Amino acid sequence: MENYDLYFAANKKLWNNKTAVHVASDFYNLAQFKAGATSLNPVELAEMPDVKGKSLLHLQCHFGMDTISFARMGATATGLDLSDAAIAAATELAASLEANASFVCANVYDANEHLSEKFDIVFTSYGTIGWLPDLNRWAAVIKERLKPGSIFYMVDFHPVVWMFDDNFSFIKYSYFNTGEPIVEQLSGTYADRQADLHDTEYGWNHSLSEIISALLNAGLTLEFFHEHLTSPYNCFNNTVEVTPGAFQIKGMEGKIPMLYSMKFIN
Ligand SMILES: C[S@@+](CC[C@H](N)C(=O)[O-])C[C@H]1O[C@@H](n2cnc3c(N)ncnc32)[C@H](O)[C@@H]1O
Repeated sequence: MENYDLYFAANKKLWNNKTAVHVASDFYNLAQFKAGATSLNPVELAEMPDVKGKSLLHLQCHFGMDTISFARMGATATGLDLSDAAIAAATELAASLEANASFVCANVYDANEHLSEKFDIVFTSYGTIGWLPDLNRWAAVIKERLKPGSIFYMVDFHPVVWMFDDNFSFIKYSYFNTGEPIVEQLSGTYADRQADLHDTEYGWNHSLSEIISALLNAGLTLEFFHEHLTSPYNCFNNTVEVTPGAFQIKGMEGKIPMLYSMKFIN
């Protein structure tokens, strides 16, 4: 099996550095969240089952806002993330809000070494598998953490979005996973473009067939798959807000998908 440790170490450093900037950013708006607002978006709120009384595992939870939002909705929530700075911030946030949420610092590939519990729901969202080279390993972890009859729900940016250069002016990257990492020098972050952050990031593009096949091959059953024309996050360059809180790429309005969402049953 190929050794990805160097890439993961670089990405961990990158996410550790991003965390303090994100916690303080208007983008994540922690003040509003602390006052009671959910960080979840209309897509997942409409498509997810009721989480009340359910155990929920949130993979790649960043500093825990969505995990805590699920806890506020009545779930017993567990967040997992590679970044120790993010997990420390999440743990502190949950404690300050007395939320029914706990957090684990681990690579998603190693989740089964850190968790033995099986969950009613596994959830992941917005900026996840692009950090993972091998989706079969990822899907096997999800399958292992699900109870029989339980669900995996995911909403993320559509692979078409990741084909373009930063300004959406030309197609720069393959739609498919070439097996080689996409190496980029980061300057700033989507949550604060002027932030003094300068790191190298390693990512991988994944086609829809690669994503869905990995989950089907792991033994899950697809219940629905949706594509969406707008993103709830204004996290790209050259965007236009087509309706309040709904973003598309300027010049491509109504032409490319911004998100996909799907639900699988174990
Ligand atoms: C874009 S954020 C997730 C977005 C989340 N919805 C949010 O905005 O709060 C991506 C997260 O994936 C985590 N991550 C990256 N690679 C990972 C890996 N191999 N295992 C676990 N977490 C990883 C990063 O530390 C980061 O917190």
